[in-house]
Amino acid sequence: MIASVKSRQRIIDHGEVFTPAKLVNDMLDLVSHECERIDSRFLEPACGDGNFLAEVLRRKLINVDKKNARNRDKWERDAVLSVCSLYGIDLLADNIVACRDRLLRVVAEAHAARFNIPLPEDAVRAAAYILSKNVVQGDALTLRTSGDRPIVFPEWSPVNGTMLKRRDFAYDHLLETAHVSNMPLFSDSGKDVYVPRTVRDFPPCHYLRVPDAEAVHERP
Ligand SMILES: C[S@@+](CC[C@H](N)C(=O)[O-])C[C@H]1O[C@@H](n2cnc3c(N)ncnc32)[C@H](O)[C@@H]1O
Repeated sequence: MIASVKSRQRIIDHGEVFTPAKLVNDMLDLVSHECERIDSRFLEPACGDGNFLAEVLRRKLINVDKKNARNRDKWERDAVLSVCSLYGIDLLADNIVACRDRLLRVVAEAHAARFNIPLPEDAVRAAAYILSKNVVQGDALTLRTSGDRPIVFPEWSPVNGTMLKRRDFAYDHLLETAHVSNMPLFSDSGKDVYVPRTVRDFPPCHYLRVPDAEAVHERP
């Protein structure tokens, strides 16, 4: 199996070896149903430039396409919701930039292929903002940022069609407490699960307005 690399030094310093596309696809085929579900959440720790996230997004957008081939508004909303479901962490700043750009490009290309026009500016802006929150520079082993603060991820939940509810969570206690680290992250059988620390809670807003909601929220 051949894996691609950027430089020998980056392999030595950061173990930066990228997973080949065939292996990414084989692994995602094991959870193919989840890859198609628009709201099914994925975290790629040590995401590099997003080999897994980009393929999950591509698969979600095939489903978005099937559901909304004739409705551009709904296609764009579901595409932004697909972006909301993807999370990444990497140590290296250039990988984070590359990952965000790549995911945005996956949406733009799927949109152009379906509708023959560019993704509208307000959808680009919303998706880019969401990616700036969901794909972050930090250490996936400590769940802390490069500035040594706890990594905070927003949970984006659709409300009433075009609205999004945002709640921010920190996960640092997951690693600090033996009791907590023994608990499952989710359960279908009613067991106690690990509940991350809520950091901020935003009122619902239109999905295209999420970049503005933060500024409104912070106003004194
Ligand atoms: C083996 S590559 C994998 C990249 C991608 N997930 C893939 O499968 O192609 C490893 C990546 O992990 C990053 N990395 C290494 N240690 C890390 C850590 N503790 N936290 C976050 N990222 C890390 C490196 O910067 C590099 O981009």
